[in-house]
Amino acid sequence: MIRAQNVTKYFGGFPALKNISFEVAKGEIIGFLGQNGAGKTTLMRVLTTYLPASAGKVYIAGMDVSRRSLEIRRRVGYLPENPPLYGNMTIREYLKFAARLKDIPHRQQRPHVERVLKDCDLWEARDKVIATLSKGYKQRVGIAQAILHEPELLILDEPTSGLDPAQILQVRRLIKSLEYRRTVILSTHILSEIEQMAQRVLIIKSGEILADSSIENLLKGPGGTSEDGRRVCLRVQGVRLDLEPAIGGIPGIKLARWASENNTHGIDLEMTHPSGDFNELAEKVARAGGRILEIKESKVSLEEVFLQISGNKDLSHSSRA
Ligand SMILES: Nc1ncnc2c1ncn2[C@@H]1O[C@H](COP(=O)(O)OP(=O)(O)O)[C@@H](O)[C@H]1O
Ligand SMILES: [Mg+2]
Repeated sequence: MIRAQNVTKYFGGFPALKNISFEVAKGEIIGFLGQNGAGKTTLMRVLTTYLPASAGKVYIAGMDVSRRSLEIRRRVGYLPENPPLYGNMTIREYLKFAARLKDIPHRQQRPHVERVLKDCDLWEARDKVIATLSKGYKQRVGIAQAILHEPELLILDEPTSGLDPAQILQVRRLIKSLEYRRTVILSTHILSEIEQMAQRVLIIKSGEILADSSIENLLKGPGGTSEDGRRVCLRVQGVRLDLEPAIGGIPGIKLARWASENNTHGIDLEMTHPSGDFNELAEKVARAGGRILEIKESKVSLEEVFLQISGNKDLSHSSRA
């Protein structure tokens, strides 16, 4: 659906995108994740033909965006960072206006507008003036506008930013309901959002792609080397000098991090092979004179992975919005 090859974008002498390449298959839901200023909006504007790249190529449905912008705009729905809504129009007037702009044939305008009013849960509010609407409603109007012409590709720039928690849930639910048969790209600086909404993530920092991975693989841990890698959290009482070699000797243990206080130890284990139960571990611990207080499997959080990849500690705070 999308093929971006070595896309670079300069603003004056400043490179906002540096040699970015990726592909998106039809039907994928992909998230662009990165801090403010990372280049997410710039990349989306290039993909939607609103901004020419300084170098590189982008093809959407096989068409070169620099040559066939009109055809591409017909097939792409775009929710910009600040949707251009007209405050003095009602929702319905605005959507009719948008339908004309998008060259939807006159007779189909009304059914299309009615469809998106219903799909975006705007039916009751259809005759309200846009200026009086809450941010959550406005965002839904922006999304309604983006899907009006039934695009195959939907590009949503920070669709939940600035919304309160209830509105965020509503907008997320709406986007989820739109996925069917569509390719969706959304951007966010919120990690949990990616986990909830996307199947794949492009982590962008300073105009570069730091990681391009399925969410599933990303959560398998940094490096993502082991297919079946898993993490186990263990709390044990015993003598560390006896326990350490016993646990370290278990095949498949890649890494063990110890946090010990007197004779109580919290141990984070990364294992490269799956074992259905913890029998071997429990047995070795017992033989070394240890007593297991707690044992459980734990997931690598997206936050941890992101921090490791981006090497930026500040982000963990700003991202837990
Ligand atoms: N029109 C522009 N002129 C000059 N610099 C810009 C312009 N648009 C974006 N930038 C710069 O490019 C970088 C990436 O911005 P942007 O794509 O908006 O990031 P994001 O959407 O990830 O927050 C930022 O440093 C920003 O200041
Ligand atoms: Mg942006």
